[in-house]
Amino acid sequence: MGGNLLEVNNLKKYFPIKSGFLQKTVGHVKAVDGISFTVRAGETLGIVGESGCGKSTMGRLVMRIMDATDGQILMEGQDITKLSGDKLRSIRSDFQMVFQDPYASLNPKISVEEIIAEPLIVKGGLTRAQIAERVSYLLNVVGLRPSVKNRYPHEFSGGQRQRIGIARALALNPKLIVADEAVSALDVSIQSQILNLLVELKKEFNLSYIFISHNLAVVRHISDRVGVMYLGNMVELAGKVDLYQKPLHPYTVALLSAAPEAKRGAVKERIILEGEVPSPANPPKGCAFHTRCPHAMDICREVRPQFREVAEDHLVACHLYEPQPLHS
Ligand SMILES: Nc1ncnc2c1ncn2[C@@H]1O[C@H](COP(=O)(O)OP(=O)(O)OP(=O)(O)O)[C@@H](O)[C@H]1O
Ligand SMILES: [Mg+2]
Repeated sequence: MGGNLLEVNNLKKYFPIKSGFLQKTVGHVKAVDGISFTVRAGETLGIVGESGCGKSTMGRLVMRIMDATDGQILMEGQDITKLSGDKLRSIRSDFQMVFQDPYASLNPKISVEEIIAEPLIVKGGLTRAQIAERVSYLLNVVGLRPSVKNRYPHEFSGGQRQRIGIARALALNPKLIVADEAVSALDVSIQSQILNLLVELKKEFNLSYIFISHNLAVVRHISDRVGVMYLGNMVELAGKVDLYQKPLHPYTVALLSAAPEAKRGAVKERIILEGEVPSPANPPKGCAFHTRCPHAMDICREVRPQFREVAEDHLVACHLYEPQPLHS
């Protein structure tokens, strides 16, 4: 482990809402609304949170598949937020994404060999023989026989397809892989095989991961640190043991209380949150969670809490943990 591989500062993505014949912009979906975090070299950062809280959008922003509305993305200290054209292409190989549904993300009309070779061909600089050799090597690395290279995606099981997706992601020696629900569509027994493969590959190739999942048990298994998102915000970020054993943010506490594996943690009693998740097109003022928080105070309705370190390596955005102002 070393310093920060990735540093994200106040990142935002607002999607315009268009309406009417003239397609006028009538508002914005605040999918990611000012989040900051780091990924340390060699770590797996897990990201959890309910559907629609902005996990995938955050992943796509970091991958530069999508432009940010505001904020900064530093990769090994270099600001990549506004890179485009050749400059963006030259750093593209440093990060790759592995998706939930390998069938949808793999082109069904091209063979496994072509799927894995594609990023190598686009990058250029290798002979056909070198590419063929690299494809065989990558298939081996992900636990597939090189002889499968002439087959097509539909001839494989879900787990095997995910191995092909991982081989393709590894083709250009990335430093960071964003895995977005990478095992969510797989059977539980296959899930653990793919998770174990990811752990092995991380060691072997010095990778770092952002591992996005709504499954708290899976994230607990694979992560070093875990970030919790709610309505486009990062509300808590801590080492895995701290987060699961000593959650601080009322949302994290509620989320863990609803998950069966929480029984092994600190949260014993199930907390049912009142109301619905508000719309990211119209998020509440102040703390985005105040409308559902059992501890909401006056200040929570007015002032957005800062995301700050309140214990060693434990960040939280919550007024309950703000230092009390001194009375004079
Ligand atoms: N291209 C887009 N245009 C408009 N709104 C979008 C777009 N992509 C995502 N959104 C909206 O942004 C919000 C966050 O979506 P996102 O897919 O990032 O959430 P998520 O946490 O990945 O959810 P899930 O767990 O269901 O995958 C949602 O309200 C979603 O509808
Ligand atoms: Mg998603």
